Amino acid sequence: MIKLPGLIDPHVHLREPGATHKEDFDSGTSAALAGGFTMVLAMPNTKPPIFDSTTLELALDAAKQKARCDYGQYIGAGPENVEIAASLAGKVAGLKMYLDSTFGELRLDDMSLWMPHFEKFPQSAPMVMHSESRTMAAAILFASIYNRPIHIAHISLKEEILLIKAAKEKGIKVTCEVCPHHLFLSKDDIPAISSGHPGRGEVRPRLAAKEDVDSLWENLDVIDCFATDHAPHTIEEKDGENPPPGFPGLETALPLLLTAVDLGRLTLDDLIEKMYVNPRKIFNLPEQPETWVEVDEDASYEVKASEQFTRCNWTPFEGWKVKGKIRKVVLRGQPAFEDGKILAGPGAGKNIR
Ligand code: DOR
Ligand code: ZN
Repeated sequence: MIKLPGLIDPHVHLREPGATHKEDFDSGTSAALAGGFTMVLAMPNTKPPIFDSTTLELALDAAKQKARCDYGQYIGAGPENVEIAASLAGKVAGLKMYLDSTFGELRLDDMSLWMPHFEKFPQSAPMVMHSESRTMAAAILFASIYNRPIHIAHISLKEEILLIKAAKEKGIKVTCEVCPHHLFLSKDDIPAISSGHPGRGEVRPRLAAKEDVDSLWENLDVIDCFATDHAPHTIEEKDGENPPPGFPGLETALPLLLTAVDLGRLTLDDLIEKMYVNPRKIFNLPEQPETWVEVDEDASYEVKASEQFTRCNWTPFEGWKVKGKIRKVVLRGQPAFEDGKILAGPGAGKNIR
């Protein structure tokens, strides 16, 4: 049995308000606990999006009643909420800037819309970018010009990891995260994931080439965090017309990464650094006393969507054999998950801000 600290996922979509048939703070934080996470930071591309104090209260009220693990809520950067977002910095996980298109309405197309957020959002509060490829290069230039830290979400490409490496070497304050699906899947896996339903392979950033995946593994030391980008959409939506992009990930991240540890692809210390130590530092997160995760590192099992707590009812890793089973999660001295059962009640989770 190995004991890990309560893991932190700085990038999840819990769909509340507005799409609780996909997930809500109850099912999403249950999935988190079952996956060994005791703290999650929720993204603002909900319905309505979280962009001011009224919408923030909507999310925080739901979370307060329903969350079973600790949580923070991001605010989204819009064209017209610069002052409001800055004034709410102390109450949110951070500012999320959507600089490339993805699921939801939040998007800042024009670089002139990025500038006021860089000027006004407090230097000490986290700023997270959805920025791919050349947009990411532009975001890093902004970090350099405004001399403030930024965190790049879900990098997936060789050109991205190499540029982040170079930027770090120049002293630019940039950190980044990689999702398990970009480490364990490439576009060659899309036919197997899709099994006749092309929508299942849709995710943003898209699954990349094998060369990109290899370069992420070769540059593990440049990766600050592993984040799931848990993006639940129901199996019916994924298989329907206009399938929305996104993969669930909370319940598969740790087993997949523990399997990689078993294979010698990374160390347990790397895992703890990227799923606990660095997220705490980058996002300025409080300690959770008497909180830990117990894992049976020798137990092998098969990933099955039918055994998951997420409401979306599918996983791109269906049938994968993994080694490392989460047996027990303790949150602030209380058993929160044990042998497949969620023990923490709704409302047990606390707002980290
Ligand atoms: O695939 C994705 N789905 N990428 C994102 O950036 C957003 C997410 C979602 O909210 O569904
Ligand atoms: Zn996301």
